[in-house]
Amino acid sequence: MSAAPVVSLQGIATRFGSNIVHERLDLDVEAGEIVALVGGSGSGKTTLLRHIIGLTRPSSGSVRLFGEGLQDGPMRTRMARQRRFGVLFQHGALFSALSVGENIAFPLRELDIATDAEVRDLIALKLAMVEMAPEHAHLMPAELSGGMVKRAALARALALEPELLLLDEPTAGLDPDRSASFVELIRSLHRQLGLTVVLVTHDVDTLAALASKIAVLADRRIVSFAPMEDTLQVDHPFIQRFFRGEHGRRALRRNGLA
Ligand SMILES: Nc1ncnc2c1ncn2[C@@H]1O[C@H](COP(=O)(O)OP(=O)(O)OP(=O)(O)O)[C@@H](O)[C@H]1O
Ligand SMILES: [Mg+2]
Repeated sequence: MSAAPVVSLQGIATRFGSNIVHERLDLDVEAGEIVALVGGSGSGKTTLLRHIIGLTRPSSGSVRLFGEGLQDGPMRTRMARQRRFGVLFQHGALFSALSVGENIAFPLRELDIATDAEVRDLIALKLAMVEMAPEHAHLMPAELSGGMVKRAALARALALEPELLLLDEPTAGLDPDRSASFVELIRSLHRQLGLTVVLVTHDVDTLAALASKIAVLADRRIVSFAPMEDTLQVDHPFIQRFFRGEHGRRALRRNGLA
């Protein structure tokens, strides 16, 4: 028997009042994949990530993580499941009143599972993972460049050694060089740590460089779930606009895909 998908969404429907965001949405993410979720603004990408981590619940349908229902088991089991994923949110990536180090330590302090010395070691280790120097631990978020904020937030997402990493627009707002180096960092962490990654992005360069599969959210559901080459062949107006617009075409050429 093969292992259960890391993320399994079935028959998801989401309604906010009269606004129907998802309907009959299915998506299975297998271990080790890097799945990029793309879709128009307001199509429900962030909401879907929130469902996956249990911050919100869909109106109907099932969300399973690591083969278990999100609500399954007693509190202890649900807390343990929470430690198996890390998240980089779209906005407000760091707590502005806490230093970089305390941001990274936050998930550990909350769980109260490590001594002060262990926390210090762990901060240094996580900073090294995201290619930041140990002394960066003492900086405040306002003192960091945009790229460093993303790296520090990634270090925090990795604090509890998750198996699943969820990233909402990880390269938004970064210039092309910083964006490319952040993509490279995600790629190497994926390899080193054996992560499964789900990322939301509208950046075709990021997609082309990272995604093993692309999930396209349109018409309230996943209309295509396939590697880049196959996605490009799908005859759907959103997909054609997304990849065949001026920006998309240039990015595909840069990445040798068109
Ligand atoms: N808590 C909420 N209450 C009411 N409506 C909401 C809530 N959260 C999201 N929505 C609505 O759901 C829809 C999807 O929002 P979501 O943030 O998931 O889109 P998105 O695909 O992430 O967009 P973007 O690319 O702009 O980040 C939008 O119409 C939004 O207004
Ligand atoms: Mg969003």
